[in-house]
Amino acid sequence: MAMREQFDLDPKTTYLNSGTQSICPRSVFDAVLEYQRRYERNPTEGLFSAWPMLWETQIELAKFFVAEPEDLFLRTNVTLALNAFIMGIPLPSDGEILVSHLEYGAIVNICRLRAEQSGLSLRTFHLPAGPCEWESLTPAALAEQIVGELRPETRLLLLSHVMTGNGLVLPIREIARETRKRGILLVVDGAHAPGAVPLRLSELADVDFYAGNLHKWMMGPKGTAFGWVPERHQRALLPTQAGWTTFENPKAFERFGGGAKGRFASRFLITGCHEFASFYGIREMLRFWRMNGEEKIRKRIYELQDFLETEMSRELGWTLLSPPRGPMRGPLLSYELPSTLRLNGYELMDRLRQEHGLQIILSPVGDLWQLRLSPHIYNSEDEIRHAVSILRDFRP
Ligand SMILES: Cc1ncc(COP(=O)(O)O)c(C=O)c1O
Repeated sequence: MAMREQFDLDPKTTYLNSGTQSICPRSVFDAVLEYQRRYERNPTEGLFSAWPMLWETQIELAKFFVAEPEDLFLRTNVTLALNAFIMGIPLPSDGEILVSHLEYGAIVNICRLRAEQSGLSLRTFHLPAGPCEWESLTPAALAEQIVGELRPETRLLLLSHVMTGNGLVLPIREIARETRKRGILLVVDGAHAPGAVPLRLSELADVDFYAGNLHKWMMGPKGTAFGWVPERHQRALLPTQAGWTTFENPKAFERFGGGAKGRFASRFLITGCHEFASFYGIREMLRFWRMNGEEKIRKRIYELQDFLETEMSRELGWTLLSPPRGPMRGPLLSYELPSTLRLNGYELMDRLRQEHGLQIILSPVGDLWQLRLSPHIYNSEDEIRHAVSILRDFRP
């Protein structure tokens, strides 16, 4: 079946904001609904059978991202997984937490809270973020620039794998090699990485903590994300919340799996009464990726992005804020909103949706607005042409 036909799309909406959350394939959404229905028929059985099913889910997820299931835990979003790292890792009571100026605000706030609680300072450094800064920039030069920001007092560095605003992809592996040498903890916010860039966690062994979303580029059920912690940090990471499995595995939870090796995964398991249908839908999501082919899906994402960029450039000529095509460009295309459209950006976003059925996202950057477009495999060239014509003809 053609990719687009595997989705139930709203014929009145042109959805070009998969960067916030993507649309689930029909098979994934149906699987989640079926799990929910089954749970409701007998919630007690549903809860008691949750633990082995979650373990099976972790095994399959680990296989897909080339990791060990014992090193993973599931959360409903990346914000929660990053909270587990940043709030739970022991840090000295002096020094700084370092973040780039392109990090996602909610995650910077986790760093800020941790810094305030631990008497650390929070420092922000500037990353290349505009057309004149991309010139002659290579991944190696970018890594060097970031490593150049590290100081003897840097304790923890938070970086996104793919930046939310402009889609800049960081050479995480190279940066991690240097942070590890210096004994600085590297926490990676992979909100936009799974699905959008090849991700093999076993190749990121120098990264200290990695969190990824499944409800963005992976097209997973809403409310799915994971945390990954290499074995060397598993004993030290303190859970910030306690529950049944914090200290040992009571009998009911032995079926979660993993045995003694899985103690970390058990410790970070969500164990309260909960209906895990969205997590169970992860297996159907992985089946979708296997059936359609990881490479083929990614190729299509970037094909549509190329088409969009060409159309935008020909029809509108707006200033592109994303890196040029190549290894530093992720799945998001961002443009500076021209002065002719300078309504309040949120008002513009609402009007485009209400009057034209076009869903995009606008975010404030200083006193400018940035428009971000992120097509996925369920979009078509026709839709993109239509969206560009709406932007071209829109009058505030
Ligand atoms: C870079 C980045 N980090 C974190 C998040 C937060 O994701 P979630 O709301 O799924 O936790 C986002 C969301 O867009 C993001 O772009």
